[in-house]
Amino acid sequence: MLEEVPLDPDVHDRAGFDCGVAALNEYLRRFAGQHRRMGISATYVLIDSDQPRVVLGYYSLSAAEVDVARLSDSDRKKLPRFPIPCYRMGRLACRTDRRGAGLGRLLVGCAVDRCLQTKKQIPAYALLVDAKNASAKAFYEHYGFTPLLDRAMTLYLPLGR
Ligand SMILES: CC(C)(COP(=O)(O)OP(=O)(O)OC[C@H]1O[C@@H](n2cnc3c(N)ncnc32)[C@H](O)[C@@H]1OP(=O)(O)O)[C@@H](O)C(=O)NCCC(=O)NCCS
Repeated sequence: MLEEVPLDPDVHDRAGFDCGVAALNEYLRRFAGQHRRMGISATYVLIDSDQPRVVLGYYSLSAAEVDVARLSDSDRKKLPRFPIPCYRMGRLACRTDRRGAGLGRLLVGCAVDRCLQTKKQIPAYALLVDAKNASAKAFYEHYGFTPLLDRAMTLYLPLGR
């Protein structure tokens, strides 16, 4: 059974994870645990309960804010004119040997769900993501994320009321 759990550096095999992007492999190996301890971001990994050490994919979440002037006209007009709180999925990656099997979709769903749960206690307007390239941008747009007006590689998904 697939499960999404907080990264535990003592359990999860970070060195064995390869998503094909060196910076994202390195983040998981060297910085994710450190950033959790520093209170900067939290990383969640996708595992199969039959092989709980093997990381199939991961994402990280942190607090963020966005200047409303960067949102689309229709989103902006409902909002106050100061920077508003958001969450940010700073990183998202799946193993190269499990690509195209729906794990990316599952991780985006888990991240949105986690934001919706958190929002009940600490409200925030949207989930922001930073796309590393055109392909990642297309992936996020496929899920309804909208590029910021003046920063096309940062996208947002309103989380509703
Ligand atoms: C982006 C990434 C996480 C996608 O994971 P994946 O497991 O291969 O994707 P999935 O199999 O879950 O695909 C889910 C859906 O997205 C679509 N999709 C996948 N990649 C896409 C792309 N580049 N552009 C548009 N749509 C894409 C699939 O067609 C599928 O559509 P469906 O839900 O309608 O069937 C993965 O390719 C990855 O780890 N890439 C390297 C790191 C990276 O680029 N991370 C992005 C953050 S910067």
